[in-house]
Amino acid sequence: MEFSIKGGSPEKQRSACVVVGVFESRKLTGPAKAIDQASGGYLTEILRRGDMEGKSGNTLLLQKVPGTAADRVLLVGLGKEREFNDKLYRDAVRAAMRSLLDTGAADATVYLPELPIKKRGIGWRIAHATTVVLDSMYRFDRLKSKSDAPRPSLKKLVFTVANRADATAGEEGLRRGLAVGHGVGLARDLGNLPANLCTPAYLADQAREIAKAYSFKCQVLEQSDMEQLGMGSLLCVTRGSAQPPKLIVLQHQGGKKNDKPVVLVGKGITFDTGGISLKPAAEMDEMKFDMCGAASVLGSLKAVGEMQLPLNVVGIVPTCENMPGGTATKPGDVVTSMSGQTIEILNTDAEGRLILCDALTYAERFEPDIVLDIATLTGACVIALGHVCHGLYANDESLARDLLGAGNDAHDRAWQMPLWDDYQEQLKSNFADMANVGGRPAGSVTAACFLSRFTKKYRWAHLDIAGTAWKSGKEKGATGRPVPLLTEFLLQRVAAR
Ligand code: BES
Ligand code: MN
Ligand code: ZN
Repeated sequence: MEFSIKGGSPEKQRSACVVVGVFESRKLTGPAKAIDQASGGYLTEILRRGDMEGKSGNTLLLQKVPGTAADRVLLVGLGKEREFNDKLYRDAVRAAMRSLLDTGAADATVYLPELPIKKRGIGWRIAHATTVVLDSMYRFDRLKSKSDAPRPSLKKLVFTVANRADATAGEEGLRRGLAVGHGVGLARDLGNLPANLCTPAYLADQAREIAKAYSFKCQVLEQSDMEQLGMGSLLCVTRGSAQPPKLIVLQHQGGKKNDKPVVLVGKGITFDTGGISLKPAAEMDEMKFDMCGAASVLGSLKAVGEMQLPLNVVGIVPTCENMPGGTATKPGDVVTSMSGQTIEILNTDAEGRLILCDALTYAERFEPDIVLDIATLTGACVIALGHVCHGLYANDESLARDLLGAGNDAHDRAWQMPLWDDYQEQLKSNFADMANVGGRPAGSVTAACFLSRFTKKYRWAHLDIAGTAWKSGKEKGATGRPVPLLTEFLLQRVAAR
């Protein structure tokens, strides 16, 4: 898809389709009015007949509107004008795309970014339109012998702006939107790829490719390296699997040499059977998504590379399978983590925290300013928050605030959960320093409490993305979240300096 930005009046655009908005109770936006006037009230007449009410998500495709140079005009419902906001704007762009992709139009000129939204400048509006477009064009059909959906005709999109100054800010927004969209696309691809193809070794190859494309440093630690480092917790998870584990380290030195980095740590369980504490069969296929934290780290680093952000960023991905087998870890086993703390494994299905804790200890060597881990960690988080927002935990309130803000700005929201000491009691073990599970109550919180025992030396936050990283049912597939939140967070750090 080719994107560009330009100005000009809608009735004069020589385009296969001009896209304009209509608010609820049949109120035309500025660009729609221009078309209405040029066509001698053609749109007003349609609205009067009741064929388009302006409800959010509604669209109406018109052919050869009199007085206009375009082949088609697409009316997009925006909802109530007074309530128009981030979400309604993004919904309008998505609805427009759904309709456009069904037409034979090879290009479209979209007037939606001209609409004002409270506190959102033109850069934001174009960046978000771009990511929504890329997201709605996303297909994962590489494993089908013949594609069931025809290739869309749409090849070129033009976003319009009202003036020169907006064009400059718009171009910047377009670049950002493309970088985020490409990062999301990579995260979705990696998530959707099944576990027989997306192995730990495959993730390592992907990291090496990102490193090559953007001149990052890439290091892949093998099992023997992990043994030498004393990563007894990470290693106990991989024991039942025939796939060798990897610890991937990607480094972007975009900032000053001595600037402390932001370290992103992503859970990379390429398949989670539960191990000896075996999961039930129903929906177990979805446990190929248990590496979506890792995918979001790689996707975010891709976006960072594309934007050449002047920051030091390190990505760490501990990755392996969680399988049952003759050599697998058993409930009751006690292992020693890299930090020296011992862990009684009461449930081998609580494996994410076991690979993360050693990666979090390993992160210390980068003298991080901040460490963020991202993990499809607990089913309990899905029960608590559903599929709308990520669960956020942090040992630093200002970091939590920044992440919540970035989530709002990226429309990839998180909700803060408590990390109070009161919950730590649930992790008591009679045989080791801690147990790896804390029982049924507050399962997402006790998982975060477990991780907090390994993150005392730096500012740290944890995102539980179990409910947000993929969709189930008819639309089953990876979402690419929280790449938008993470890249927005990094962008805001650049802006704040
Ligand atoms: N990968 C799962 C978490 C998960 C479950 C994500 C369902 C999305 C949907 C994780 O490894 C896991 O199995 N967690 C257990 C922890 C429990 C044993 C304390 C869970 O949530 O059931
Ligand atoms: Mn598990
Ligand atoms: Zn898991």
